[in-house]
Amino acid sequence: MNKIIPDNCANKVGKAVVFIGILIASIGMASIIPTLQTPRAKVLGILGGGQLGRMIALSAANLGVKVMVLDPSDRPPAAVAAQAVKGHFRDADNVQDFTSKVDVLTVEIEHVNAEILIILEEEGAADIQPSAKTIAIIQDKFAQKEYFKECGVPLGEFCDMPDEIALLHAANEYGYPFMLKSKCLAYDGRGNYVLHSKEDHSIAVEQLGGYAHGLYAEKWQPFEKELAVMVVKSRAGEVQLYPVTQTVQRDSICHVTETPALISESVRIAAELLAKQVVNAMQGAGVFGVEMFLLANGEVLLNEVAPRVHNSGHYTIDGCVTSQFENHVRATLDLPLGDTSLKVNHVIMLNILGEADGKKGEQLAEELIDRALATPGCSVHWYDKSGVTKGRKIGHINIVGKSMEEARDRLLALDPKALERLGS
Ligand SMILES: Nc1ncnc2c1ncn2[C@@H]1O[C@H](COP(=O)(O)OP(=O)(O)OP(=O)(O)O)[C@@H](O)[C@H]1O
Ligand SMILES: [Mg+2]
Repeated sequence: MNKIIPDNCANKVGKAVVFIGILIASIGMASIIPTLQTPRAKVLGILGGGQLGRMIALSAANLGVKVMVLDPSDRPPAAVAAQAVKGHFRDADNVQDFTSKVDVLTVEIEHVNAEILIILEEEGAADIQPSAKTIAIIQDKFAQKEYFKECGVPLGEFCDMPDEIALLHAANEYGYPFMLKSKCLAYDGRGNYVLHSKEDHSIAVEQLGGYAHGLYAEKWQPFEKELAVMVVKSRAGEVQLYPVTQTVQRDSICHVTETPALISESVRIAAELLAKQVVNAMQGAGVFGVEMFLLANGEVLLNEVAPRVHNSGHYTIDGCVTSQFENHVRATLDLPLGDTSLKVNHVIMLNILGEADGKKGEQLAEELIDRALATPGCSVHWYDKSGVTKGRKIGHINIVGKSMEEARDRLLALDPKALERLGS
């Protein structure tokens, strides 16, 4: 026989059930709350929401880290895994507002408003990784060179270029060809001009925006290879290096990288030493990209440093145990650093560069991707940019192999010219 529960008794039972429910829920919440206070629960803010921000955000999503990006476009590539805030990373007010929304601030581009970052950092109003001082030094290529020269890092000759007299003097000292470079806002070769003769002087100065824009000159480095080392530094100053990679530029834009670089043991040691020296001289945590020239005599010279994840480290996504993007999240949020070693024997990264503007460029990129999808060992990384223009980075393909020969054979199926450029 069913027991009939009197009304007032049913009320009590009901209340007890509700109470127990609330208790269980509270215990459940209590066990969640400490998790929410871990560094993973912090909001990572990125100045810039392009492909680098996108790949940081994708890694962060896997770790359960929330990302916000400040970017001027309506739907930046990083929006796939980040909350995008519309605004410019060079606008002081936009940067300040954005900073108040995040726990830790980092950059995917060094050409940000460093003045406001320094103020916010000095006031203790923002946790900026790497330090705003580091970003300020790096964003001015001339200041960067002067700083590392003072630190004793091996680098080529360079000089300030305030006027015509200085340009004639540099031509005399260095001979032709030599490089004229913009101090600021330079990337992907925009901001560089190779001078072959005196006839080039005025056009070079004009193209780079005039002396008042801030120019400097570099002696030409007849490099045998270009090398790069990605480095991750923790907040406590622990430094871990990724393997030395060879980079090949086409029209001053990174086209293909190969890892490990085919270099002697002594060159590898010199490149690693230089990378450590450079990163130890910079304040703050995160990933840094160190670009170098390898000369015929085995000397390794610093080209330049990026205070952020870098194109020459894209191979780490499919080639290494922990990618540069995940390690940047780990380092900036004070999580343990991940393993930087290779998990495959050989990895080649091929940038998908716009070969033409518009539809033609899209079609050529699609054909390359089709070849990659049909070739074993290839992983496609698409950036979802708003359109294709000539020379624009629109994606990349990582090609892994059990051996160098296997990876190179696979590259041959994708882009024979890129293989030629790698050399031996
Ligand atoms: N002093 C030099 N001598 C010879 N080649 C040089 C020199 N400086 C730069 N280059 C060539 O031009 C490329 C681009 O130069 P640099 O790294 O200064 O430009 P960037 O615009 O900052 O490039 P990115 O943004 O791709 O790193 C170098 O990778 C190298 O191939
Ligand atoms: Mg460079």
